[in-house]
Formats: sequence, C-alpha cells, structure tokens
Amino acid sequence: MQLCVALDLPTKEENLDLIHKIKDYPVWLKVGLRSYIRDGEEFLKDIKKINPDFKIFLDLKLYDIPNTMADAAESIMGLGVDMFNVHASAGKRAMKEVMERLSCYENRPIVLAVTALTSFNEDEFNNVYGSSIAQKADQFAKDAHESGLDGVVCSAYESASIKNITDKSFMSLTPGIRPFGEDAGDQQRVADVAFAKSAHVDFIVVGRPIYNSKNPAEVVQKILEQI
Ligand code: C5P
Repeated sequence: MQLCVALDLPTKEENLDLIHKIKDYPVWLKVGLRSYIRDGEEFLKDIKKINPDFKIFLDLKLYDIPNTMADAAESIMGLGVDMFNVHASAGKRAMKEVMERLSCYENRPIVLAVTALTSFNEDEFNNVYGSSIAQKADQFAKDAHESGLDGVVCSAYESASIKNITDKSFMSLTPGIRPFGEDAGDQQRVADVAFAKSAHVDFIVVGRPIYNSKNPAEVVQKILEQI
C-alpha cells in the first residue's frame, strides 16, 4: 500500500512549503482541481525540482464526451504525470476511447476511474444514481475493468468487493482516510489505515489530517510506519 498526499492548500506557496517538509518520504503527491487550475503545469515542474522521485497523481476526474476525454487524456500524457483519473459514469465507450488513445504510448500513466465519491452518503448517492453505493460501485468497477483501465477510486469499504469481482491486481485508491480518527470534515465514508490495509487497498489518499497538522512530516512518518 502506498501513501498519496493531497495538495489541497489555498496557495501554491503553502503547497510547496508542505512538499519541502515531506520531501524525504517515498510518497505520491496528489494535485487536484484547485491547485492545477490555479498553478498549472509549472506547479508539476516545481514538484519535480524539489524531488524528482515524487510520483504525481493528477486528480482532475475527467467527465465529458468520449472524444473530448480522449483528447484531454492525450494532453495529460504530455505533462509527464504518473497517474490520472476519469469518472466511470462517463461510460464504457468514453473509458475505452481514453485507453485506446493512450495505447500507442510506451510509458502511459496509471488510469483510474472514480466510482462513488467518498463525500456521498447513501441518500445523496441514490438521488443522483438511483442505486445503492455498493451496487453501483461494483458495476462502475466492472465497467472500468472491461474498458482496460488500471483501477478505481473508491472508499475503503468497497475495495475488497471490487477486487473480488474484477481482479486482485485491479488497483484501488481510497480517499476519505482518517489515519488516527481525525475529524471527517465533508467525508462520509471514512476509514483508518489499518482498515484500508485489511481491504488490500493499493493507495490511500490523505489530505487534511496531514496538511492541517502542526507537524506534517511526523504524521506522514507515522502513516508510513503503519503501512
Ligand atoms: O482532506 P481529505 O483527506 O478528505 O482529502 C481527500 C482528497 O481526495 C481531496 O483532495 C478530494 O478531492 C479527493 N477525493 C475524494 N473522494 C473521491 C475522489 C477524490 O475525497 N472519491
């Protein structure tokens, strides 16, 4: 299992300051919508300047018509990131087109599909998708697997079932991790590191419990020890 630190701070300077504090740890860094829209490709280069070994997950959750998604995936290819994601609810045709477009590249990034956002509770999810989270997450995972993606973004509670119905090597990345019982914030389906490990999660994403702490490096160290 690997740790992915979410860089969701209000300014680029604060994100860079956090990266400097944790630069000696073997972690992935997650660049999300806020940072990428504001700081762009330059920010990705700044990260690699601090430590070229950092792996970068570009969390833009693509959702559009198949051709537009494939075009975007090809542009992402040019950024040199190690992982990015799309929404499974964009459909199999869109996911297949993304993978087809990337198939001619030797070193393509890992591509994951978002199943159910971890901020949804059952009622909210049902309102949008007309299904229970567990049922739909399984179906989205199957769709992503059949479309040739490498794995899914899901909650730690869905990871085991998804691996059962797809493949053990089909990856799961789980946000909503509160390593030591910290405040859940807007997340609904939170889990701790031990639970994620028992569910054979491949990547845990941790944001606020790290960057809101007085000593982010210490929290990272503690999480890595548990992993
Ligand atoms: O601060 P926290 O640890 O809750 O951060 C979780 C991160 O994971 C945020 O950047 C959020 O956008 C992202 N994420 C999520 N749920 C998903 C996909 C991504 O919380 N399903």
